[in-house]
Amino acid sequence: MAELHDRFQRRIEYVRLSVTDRCDLRCFYCLPRGYRDFEAPDHWLGFDEIERVIAAFARLGVRRVRLTGGEPLVRRGITDLARRLAALPGIEDLSLSTNATRLARQAGALRRAGVRRINVSLDSLDPANFRRITGGKLDKVLAGLMAARQAGFHPIKINMVVMRGVNDHEVNDMVDFCLRHGFTLRFIETMPVGETGRRAASHYLPLDQVRERLARQFELIPGLMPGGGPARYLQVAGTDLRIGFITPLSQHFCATCNRVRLSVDGTLYLCLGQDHAVPLRPLLRAGATDTELEAAIRQAVALKPERHEFGEQPGRIVRFMAQTGG
Ligand code: 5AD
Ligand code: SF4
Repeated sequence: MAELHDRFQRRIEYVRLSVTDRCDLRCFYCLPRGYRDFEAPDHWLGFDEIERVIAAFARLGVRRVRLTGGEPLVRRGITDLARRLAALPGIEDLSLSTNATRLARQAGALRRAGVRRINVSLDSLDPANFRRITGGKLDKVLAGLMAARQAGFHPIKINMVVMRGVNDHEVNDMVDFCLRHGFTLRFIETMPVGETGRRAASHYLPLDQVRERLARQFELIPGLMPGGGPARYLQVAGTDLRIGFITPLSQHFCATCNRVRLSVDGTLYLCLGQDHAVPLRPLLRAGATDTELEAAIRQAVALKPERHEFGEQPGRIVRFMAQTGG
């Protein structure tokens, strides 16, 4: 079985696939209000092109794919794409990151298409605060989450970007909510990606402060780290609740990074926090063979940088999270 390794002995076995840079929300730390500069449709990889690239990755040893965006559920035909990717030999795990605004309608079909795990971005349980942060309606997201549970997704992870003075007062409510519904909870530090992310950096809250606050109320036991992802987990004693801490700034996890990102226009980004990238679309559209495509992917992975420099160089990444694929 083939394996993809970078220069730092990290095995790359995970592709985060952005199927659109568009989103129906405008989280202030991600996309500016009134933003229009989206990728032109003729630059989007079509489903045949996506399937070809992912199949090439799978032959090189990638086992996991996550559909992301922007908001992946705004891409028309997303369940058909999910079905095609889930069926590829070698792909063992297909997951989805979504804001859940459209999940109520699509949860069942996505589950049947072979998506097993989902992550839902949810920064507030207060409708007014949710609207301030995202510009959208909380009730749609809650309906989406309940539909996801009904459809049998497991686990369902809630991703909360915790920001000082914005939603840090809601951390305990979020813990209660996840306890009640059997969701896994993950806190994320604000990252300085794009001008939006940099503006939000004034609300940056190191997550060890959140952990200390929680520890006054709950007994937290060090837990397992399932899946080899970036979160470090604590279990709330006497419950099934696991709380993950994703700390790109206060304690980065680049040494065990296992992923690359493919954007909607077919650019392979080697790191969320660096500019190293290789455009695959020209290759695909010039009729490259499978062997050429695999060679291009191997060469790209060799460019993967050792780590991000959000701390040292917070101005480096000008593209928004929605452009790279979050
Ligand atoms: N910092 C941290 N997380 C971000 N996201 C988007 N922009 C940022 C940022 N600047 C998160 C979203 C979502 C995922 C796609 O990325 O909240 O959970
Ligand atoms: Fe990996 Fe880059 Fe993310 Fe660090 S910032 S974990 S190197 S993708």
